[in-house]
Amino acid sequence: MSAAPDSAPRVHVRAPGKINLVLRCGAPGEDGYHRLATVFQAVSLYEDVVAELADDVTVTVTGRQADVVPTDGENLAVRAARLLADSTGTAEGVRLHVTKNVPVSGGMGGGSADAAATLLACDLLWGTGLARDELAELAAELGADVPFALTGQTAVGTGRGDVLAPALARGTHHWVLATQSWGLPTPEVYARFDELRPDPAPPRLEDGLMAALVGGSSADLADYVANDLADAAVALRPELAGVLDAFDAAGALARTVSGSGPTVFGLAADLADAQDVAASVRDAGVADDVLLVTGPVSGARALESMRGV
Ligand code: C5P
Repeated sequence: MSAAPDSAPRVHVRAPGKINLVLRCGAPGEDGYHRLATVFQAVSLYEDVVAELADDVTVTVTGRQADVVPTDGENLAVRAARLLADSTGTAEGVRLHVTKNVPVSGGMGGGSADAAATLLACDLLWGTGLARDELAELAAELGADVPFALTGQTAVGTGRGDVLAPALARGTHHWVLATQSWGLPTPEVYARFDELRPDPAPPRLEDGLMAALVGGSSADLADYVANDLADAAVALRPELAGVLDAFDAAGALARTVSGSGPTVFGLAADLADAQDVAASVRDAGVADDVLLVTGPVSGARALESMRGV
C-alpha cells in the first residue's frame, strides 16, 4: 500500500540562532581553527526544519535570505543528513524543508542551527536513536557552532567553540539585533584578526562574568559584553562602526558584533527599553532590519513527529 503524501512520516524540529555575549579569540591551533573562550546564548530567532522520509537526500529553503542559500551538497542541512546516514549505515533518505529566520552569514549560527535541527530530525525520522552526546560529536564535525545549536540555553565554549560547558544563568535578557542583507565570510574575519592581532594572549573569560550570568541582572552583564573579532569585522566593513555608534546613541547597556558579524546586538534593560533602543537604531538607518529577541531559549527540539500509517 502506498502512503498518501500527507501521511508520509514527518518530523518538525526547531533550532535557535545564537549570539556570543563574550568572544575572546586566541591564536590558531594546528588545525587552523582559532582557540576561543566564548559565552553563547541561544535567542528567540529560529530555524525550522521539516523532514519527510524519501529515497534520497534533498532540501528546499524558504524564508529570510533563502535566495542566497545553496540547495546542493554544500547546504549544511544536506551535509548533516548525509553524515548521520553514513555514520549509522541507514539506507533511508529525507526530503528536508528549511524555513530561515536567522540572517545568512550573519554571525548568528543560522546554518549551524539548520545542521543541528536536521541531525535531530533525521535521527527521529529514521529511528537511528543516537544519544545526545553522539549527536553532539557529529555536530562538531559539521562546524564549530553546531553543537551549541543542539544544546541551546547559555554555555561556555572553548577549543574551537565546540567544547561546551553549560553556564548557570538566571533571568531573561532583552536583545536588539541589527541585521544586514549582506554577510561576512567567517574565514576572512579570522584572517583579518590574525593581521590585526598577530600575537594574541590565550583566550580567557573575565573574572566576574559567571557571577553576572548567575545574578541575572542585564546591567551587571553589560560590563562583560565584548568580542575580539569586532575590530576585524569593522576593518572589513567600515560601515559597521556606524551600527555600533547607533547602539551607543540609542542608550543600549552594551553592544558588540555577534560571532564574526555582521549582525550587531545591543543589550537592553527590559522590554520597553528594548523597544526604545530598536526604534532609535531603526531611525539611524544603519541596518537592513532591527529585531527584538530574548534569551536564553532551548536548543534544537522536535515540535511535531508523526509516523505515517
Ligand atoms: O566551523 P565553521 O565551519 O563554522 O568555521 C568556518 C571557518 O571559520 C573555519 O574554516 C575557520 O576558517 C574559521 N574559524 C576559526 N576558528 C574557529 C571557528 C571558525 O578560524 N574557532
